[in-house]
Amino acid sequence: MNEMELVSVAEAMVAEGKGILAIDESAGTIAKRFKAINIESTEENRRAYREMLLTTAHLGKHISGAILYDETIRQSTRNGVSFVQVMQDAGIIPGIKVDMGAHPFAGHPGEKITEGLDGLRQRLEEYRALGARFAKWRAVITIGENIPTTSCVDANAHALARYAALCQEADIVPIVEPEVLMDGAHSLDESFEVTEATLRALFNQLYEQNVLLEGTILKASMVISGSEATHRASVQEVAEATVQCLLNSVPAALGGVVFLSGGQTDEEATAHLNAMNLLADFPWALTFSYGRALQAPSLKVWGENPAANVAAAQKKLAHRARMNGLAAMGQYEESFEAA
Ligand code: 13P
Repeated sequence: MNEMELVSVAEAMVAEGKGILAIDESAGTIAKRFKAINIESTEENRRAYREMLLTTAHLGKHISGAILYDETIRQSTRNGVSFVQVMQDAGIIPGIKVDMGAHPFAGHPGEKITEGLDGLRQRLEEYRALGARFAKWRAVITIGENIPTTSCVDANAHALARYAALCQEADIVPIVEPEVLMDGAHSLDESFEVTEATLRALFNQLYEQNVLLEGTILKASMVISGSEATHRASVQEVAEATVQCLLNSVPAALGGVVFLSGGQTDEEATAHLNAMNLLADFPWALTFSYGRALQAPSLKVWGENPAANVAAAQKKLAHRARMNGLAAMGQYEESFEAA
């Protein structure tokens, strides 16, 4: 394990005014996104879409790294330049999703456990050779009647720590992502309680399993009202609750914190990030690792005419990257959206 390299990659991932572009949708998820815009999910369409995103001019100005899927890290532009090369040339660190998805947790109706530890050491070695310098593993925690159970939270935390230790052995920075889902009618307080318990379990396991925190990035879900809650918390309330929850449960030594968007609208996700960064000084950078909230406007425009709308779709992505880059420094204003 090269500690110095891990720490410097982690620092670069959360460099000032930059965040991560998550384009690691699995085959099933990208098919769902394409279906919504009437695009068939063929390998060529997936390749063309990701080429459009990754070749956006000056993307590296606000994007420090991008998370790829197994298929994507092996793909190239139409002109035959590998995506990894395109990213390296743009100063964007290649990352890779390595989990094998969240599956039903046996004996626990309504809950999920993330799989993918078998053979992970060998897969990490291959990804490192392909150019990956960081990885992602997503665990899913669902809020509902009598869930999450402690056993689900603990089993997922244990797997996240096993994954993180294997990553660091391979000189790959682990992004640990315990996503507390926004789905449901739960309150801000319930989201706080579950998120805090999840983070405490996770950091306990990272400690138990000798994971270097300075070379690890947390991908957190915000403390937010459920999407079907009757009284949804304001931007300021979400920002304050999220920061308080992190301060309660995340060690100061951690390399950095990035957020997922989890179904928030693109502008909502930006406003929340900005409000957090206006609050105070924290021991870690707070920035973004958005999937939908960075891609949505771009995907929509591209889908209307993939052959003709590449430049227009790239403009949409560049705009969202800039808005979120500003939000990561607490310098975003809603009026910039119109500009
Ligand atoms: P969203 O921002 O769309 O939630 O995706 C981020 C991600 O990578 C989830 O694992």
